[in-house]
Amino acid sequence: MNIVITGATSGIGKQLALDYAAAGHHVVACGRNQEALQQLQQRFEQQIASLCFDVTDKAQTIQQLATLTDVDCVILCAGVCEYLDVERFDSDMFERVYRVNVFGMMHCVEAILPNLKAGSRLVLVGSSARLVPFTRAQVYGSSKAAIDYIARSLEVDLKARGIRVQSVSPGFVETPMTDANDFEMPMRVSVDKASKAIRRGIEKNKTDIAFPTFFALFLKFIARLPASWQVAISKRLA
Ligand SMILES: NC(=O)c1ccc[n+]([C@@H]2O[C@H](COP(=O)([O-])OP(=O)(O)OC[C@H]3O[C@@H](n4cnc5c(N)ncnc54)[C@H](OP(=O)(O)O)[C@@H]3O)[C@@H](O)[C@H]2O)c1
Repeated sequence: MNIVITGATSGIGKQLALDYAAAGHHVVACGRNQEALQQLQQRFEQQIASLCFDVTDKAQTIQQLATLTDVDCVILCAGVCEYLDVERFDSDMFERVYRVNVFGMMHCVEAILPNLKAGSRLVLVGSSARLVPFTRAQVYGSSKAAIDYIARSLEVDLKARGIRVQSVSPGFVETPMTDANDFEMPMRVSVDKASKAIRRGIEKNKTDIAFPTFFALFLKFIARLPASWQVAISKRLA
């Protein structure tokens, strides 16, 4: 397969790039960190090519990605996380996070969608945080809720073109993103496990790739409860 991965310079995206390359696939690794991209290419000279761009720069993103024509799978993994302190409510945080997680991802979709052929896959990486109203997650959780909605409605409209759209909702994964967290992260899994779960979900054509299984089922159960119960449970978890 020819696979394009954004956010390939770190964490989940990097592990996916390495694992797909090790399995003999061709990967176009994308990110801003040129040095990290070079290191990836050095590890798999035949398998990995790279593109260096910032997804928040629409012109640059379109210029870079629109050149890719023979693509089987696009995994849009670039993302950032910030937590809000409601006592110092900061609307700029919404702009910063949405610029990468939502608008940046949509720049990538706009660039690559015209060239996707029947049978190809578009994979949007969101988060399990979208499922429940977690404390301080107003910015990050809502950006990821948007991603899941966009993925599901794109799946409706792209079915006719034979393009499969898949939404990924990881729980906590050991990456630089969560290393920065100062709270307990239940059922946090290794980046290897995350990569395996995502690759298996993609291969199985799952619309909703959520892991680890028990964590995802627990959150999905809470998400089905009345809103007032969800808030009460979330307060207890906080
Ligand atoms: N780790 C978790 O527990 C967890 C849980 C649920 C969902 N997720 C989601 O999984 C994805 C990957 O997270 P991670 O934990 O692997 O994070 P990470 O290690 O911090 O990696 C984030 C990646 O996003 C890229 N990126 C950030 N801003 C960018 C920009 N403006 N333009 C281009 N690339 C940009 C970074 O590349 P450069 O630095 O090279 O720009 C980096 O490769 C994110 O979407 C995250 O929300 C993670």
